[in-house]
Amino acid sequence: MELQEFLSSLEALTVDAEHKLSKVTDSASLEAMRVHFVGARSGQIKILQKQMGGLAAEDRKPAGIKFNEIKSRIQNALEQAETRLRSLSSTKQTGPMLDPTLPGIRQHLGRTHPITQTIEHLKEIMGRLGFSVVEGPEVEDTWHNFVALNIPEDHPARDPLDNFYLSVAGQTTFDSSADTACLLRSQTSTVQIRVMEEVRPPVRIISLGRVYRPDEADATHFPMFHQMEGLWIDQNVTMAQLKSVLRMFATSYLGADVHIRFRPSFFPFTEPSVEADFLWNDNWVEFGGAGMVDPNVLQAVGYDPEKVNGFAFGLGVERLCMRRHGVHDIRDLYRNDLRFLHQF
Ligand code: DAH
Repeated sequence: MELQEFLSSLEALTVDAEHKLSKVTDSASLEAMRVHFVGARSGQIKILQKQMGGLAAEDRKPAGIKFNEIKSRIQNALEQAETRLRSLSSTKQTGPMLDPTLPGIRQHLGRTHPITQTIEHLKEIMGRLGFSVVEGPEVEDTWHNFVALNIPEDHPARDPLDNFYLSVAGQTTFDSSADTACLLRSQTSTVQIRVMEEVRPPVRIISLGRVYRPDEADATHFPMFHQMEGLWIDQNVTMAQLKSVLRMFATSYLGADVHIRFRPSFFPFTEPSVEADFLWNDNWVEFGGAGMVDPNVLQAVGYDPEKVNGFAFGLGVERLCMRRHGVHDIRDLYRNDLRFLHQF
C-alpha cells in the first residue's frame, strides 16, 4: 500500500468519525460508534493499524505519526460526544425550570347544576315560610295524575298525544282512561294527592321535581322540566294567604319588592283558579297557576270539604331560574355545555 493512500484513509476515517460523533443523540448509538471506530478487535483504527505493517519500511515513521494524531482526534471526539450526552440527560432529569412566582394551575371542581341550585334555594325560602318538602314518583298512574285531581276522562290534558303514557309489561291492550294506566307525570300536582292520601290535615308542603310533556323543544319549551308544587290545607285558609305566601316567595327569590298579580283562570283541581304573574323589570311575567283546592279533590282523598279547605300552586322552576339569571333559552340548561354551566 502506498503511503499517500494510507494517509488519506486515515484522514477520511477521522472526518467521518468526527462528523458522526458530533451528531449522536443517545448513549446506545454512541456505544455502537465506539465499537465501530476504536473497538479493540475489529474497530476501524485497529484495521488501519494492521495495514501499517504492509507499508514500505521508510514510510512507517510518517504513517505512525499521522496514525497517533488521528487516534487521539477520534478519542477526543468520543469524549466530547460523551460529555454532551451527559449534560443533555441531566437537563432532562431536572425538567423545565420552576417559576414559583407564576400563579398555580387551578383545579376545576364540579358544581351543582343551575336547576339543582334553584331547587335548593326554593326549598330554603319555602322552608322559612313553614312548608316542608315531600317527594313523589315520576312514573304515575292516571288516578294521581288526573282522576283524583278532578280532571275528567274527556279533558284534553289526558290526550295520549299530550302525555308520555307507558306500556306495562304483560299488558296486551292499552287504555289510557284506566285508573291504573301509567305515564310520566305531567305535573307535580300528583304529589298533593299522594300526601293527602297519607296524612290528615293540616298539611303545608311543597314538592319539587321533574315533569314530562311531549313538547317540541324551543326557547321556552322542553319535554322535561321542573315544577314546584305547593299545598296548604287547614281550617279557614284564604285566598289572601295564598297571595301573601306567593308574594313573600317572589320577594325572597327575585329580590326587592316584587309585585304580584292574579288573573282569573281555570284548573280542574282549584276553584277559583288564578294565573300568578310577578312584575319583573316593568313586565308582568307568568310564573304558574294557583287557586283554592276544589272540594272534589278534597273528597277524592277522603277529606271533608265542609271542615277543611286550602290553596295550591304550581310554579315553573326553569322559568324562575331563567328570569333570575337572565337565561333566554331553556335548552341552554340541558345542553351540558360546560362553558354555560360554569357560570353558575
Ligand atoms: N299543575 C298545573 C300545571 O302543570 C299548575 C298548577 C295550577 C298547580 C294550579 C296547582 C294549581 O297546584 O293550584 O299547569
